[in-house]
Amino acid sequence: MSAPAGTLTRVRRAARSRLQDLPDLASVPFSGVFSDHMLVAEYAGGAWRNVDIVPYGPLSIAPSISALHYGVSAFEGLKAHRTQDDRVAIFRPRENARRLSRSAARLSMPSVPEEMFLEGLRELVRLDRDWTPALDRGALYIRPLLFSTDESIRVKPAERFTFLIFTFPFGSYYAEPLDVLVTERFVRAFPGGVGDIKPAGNYAPAMLADRLAKEAGFHTVMWLDAKERAYVEECGVMNMFFVIGDDIVTPSLDGTIMPGITRDSIISLLRDMGRTVRERRVSIAEILAAHERGELRECFGTGTAAIVSHVRRIRYRDRDIELPPVGEAGVGKSARDGLMRIATGRVADAHHWLDLV
Ligand SMILES: Cc1ncc(COP(=O)(O)O)c(C=O)c1O
Repeated sequence: MSAPAGTLTRVRRAARSRLQDLPDLASVPFSGVFSDHMLVAEYAGGAWRNVDIVPYGPLSIAPSISALHYGVSAFEGLKAHRTQDDRVAIFRPRENARRLSRSAARLSMPSVPEEMFLEGLRELVRLDRDWTPALDRGALYIRPLLFSTDESIRVKPAERFTFLIFTFPFGSYYAEPLDVLVTERFVRAFPGGVGDIKPAGNYAPAMLADRLAKEAGFHTVMWLDAKERAYVEECGVMNMFFVIGDDIVTPSLDGTIMPGITRDSIISLLRDMGRTVRERRVSIAEILAAHERGELRECFGTGTAAIVSHVRRIRYRDRDIELPPVGEAGVGKSARDGLMRIATGRVADAHHWLDLV
């Protein structure tokens, strides 16, 4: 009898784990080596079938699939940590399942049912749990991906899709403070576009801006809004926070900003700590003025990989904003520490963010 649509059909284990070839998971470079297994599911005839866990390896795809030609593809990124009592906890996976559904809807792809996403993910992480670095020595990064597989280059909504999830371990991500270049030439997102979801097509056009920023001696770019080139949107692939006087400000989710799951978590934690976080538009002129008054205390980006990355310098046109070094009491640092205490099970998970496998 065949399994009901969307449930795990088959698990084919790797004959030999590659884990034994790795001396230390914490020293593996980001996406340098992938865990033993991946989840692969196929969508055809209006239903998800063949939800399999198989050894990680190449896929066989036709050259004509629209994912390759037209970017009919969307992805997610999340992490699992080892907890203090040696369990493995996935951080807020339901939020990623929901964001992937929003990406799918916008690209005319079928949604991956939330329970199929979550159950498949738990099973995969359970099977490869030994790939999760030790407590405080890094995390297991999880990459879900959904793309079309119709063998047709007609520009039309596709009918066949593949959903997959693979994972990899990476060591602690102590990112150095960032130097960022405000770009007025390029934009990441625009009203009515797709800046608030994660289609593959958002990332390729950002690479040139990123490369030019690196060539000019910066780590990444700060994006402004498409219409006026006046309001701060994001920085690289991170949401932005500014500490101005006693206020913490982050751009509001107006359709061109990624609803980052780290952004949402950091806002909740800062509010739990009694801080005021304002979600509103922030102009680059306001940042310059706050800096001139000596009130710009901190600027940091948030995202799954590094959680919080402090910004040290912002270049806007011919002006450099140098931010003061952040100590242990910094807003970004305390929010990051608070998030890590929850992610590693050191304090009660009051927001129900952890999915223990
Ligand atoms: C453009 C962009 N902004 C922000 C983020 C941060 O989102 P999250 O905190 O969910 O990782 C991401 C990563 O998903 C991103 O791609």
